[in-house]
Amino acid sequence: MPWSPESVYFASGREALVALTRALGLPHGTRVLLPALVPEGIIAPFLKTGCQVLFYPLDENLDPQYPAFDELLRRERPALAVFIHYFGLRKDVTRFTDLCHQCGTMVVEDMAHILRSKAADMNSEADFVLHSLTKMLPVPDGAVLEMKPKYATLQLQFRRDLRHSIYLTFRIGELVLCTVRHSIGGRRAWKMLSVLYYLLPSYRVLMSYFTRPHRMSALSRYQLRRLAVSEMVSHRCHLEQLYEQGLSPKLFGRFVEHGSNGEHCKMGFPVRVADRSSLCRWLLRHNIQGVFFQSRWDFAPELPEFSTAKQLMREHFLFPTAAYLNESDILYVIRIANMWPVESCRP
Ligand SMILES: Cc1ncc(COP(=O)(O)O)c(C=O)c1O
Repeated sequence: MPWSPESVYFASGREALVALTRALGLPHGTRVLLPALVPEGIIAPFLKTGCQVLFYPLDENLDPQYPAFDELLRRERPALAVFIHYFGLRKDVTRFTDLCHQCGTMVVEDMAHILRSKAADMNSEADFVLHSLTKMLPVPDGAVLEMKPKYATLQLQFRRDLRHSIYLTFRIGELVLCTVRHSIGGRRAWKMLSVLYYLLPSYRVLMSYFTRPHRMSALSRYQLRRLAVSEMVSHRCHLEQLYEQGLSPKLFGRFVEHGSNGEHCKMGFPVRVADRSSLCRWLLRHNIQGVFFQSRWDFAPELPEFSTAKQLMREHFLFPTAAYLNESDILYVIRIANMWPVESCRP
């Protein structure tokens, strides 16, 4: 398994954050700094544990706007700040952490959209690193919280709640539906199974109990021991390269990365497009489905400094790089995508 022995395994990332916030003993009203583009899974744990959430602005590359971020740090002195590698893009966590530590602010590095092939140690300057396993691995639940050794004595508390078992049951149902959907052909069957998938209320159940943190299930532990994560990562990296080389730069804007060493893969291949609905319609006509994040991501207030983040929320799109896709699938996707009949695209 690609996580260090000091790692703590939770049922989900949001449960890990609840347990962490409580273990740190952050008093009610403690200031926490989050990026202006943030999922419910990150903001909800801090709000539920009584923290005061402040947002920092992002630039068009999904990097923090550092001058504004630095000013916020010095003015507000938050106890904790979260840094997200959006869509699996490798970003400069060292620069972020250095600034935070100058102000006594702890850092949570969020790697939920990245899958790492191996790690002997935590290998980050951040105080905590969070991985959410369900995003890219076929496990019913699971998240990993890595901590710097100085936090090893933190008392992370776990609870038991029947709703976790209900959540697991729904998630197993979702995994079965996904497997069946990929193994049978036919557009009608695909549509029916997709409807069934979206009817399963797993997310609602998770949101109803996440303030009572659970350990990762035995089933996910068993699965993790059997999965060839390192092979999955190198396969997905290969698919990313195909997109990088094949997708028209005129149609599909790219995000700048801070450097990638082939040991991490992304959730999908992220691009920026001028008209995402038109792209989705075009791809769906050819049975191709990508991913984007919008619902449950719009929490920052409508202020001019957050307009870039809000714009990115509307313009990003992730091409599929799932482990079950092969090279010819991706070449087909690239061919169709490059035929997308749109003239203009923001770079
Ligand atoms: C970037 C990011 N971090 C953390 C989380 C929360 O993880 P989990 O879904 O395991 O609670 C999510 C969930 O959407 C996410 O997208």
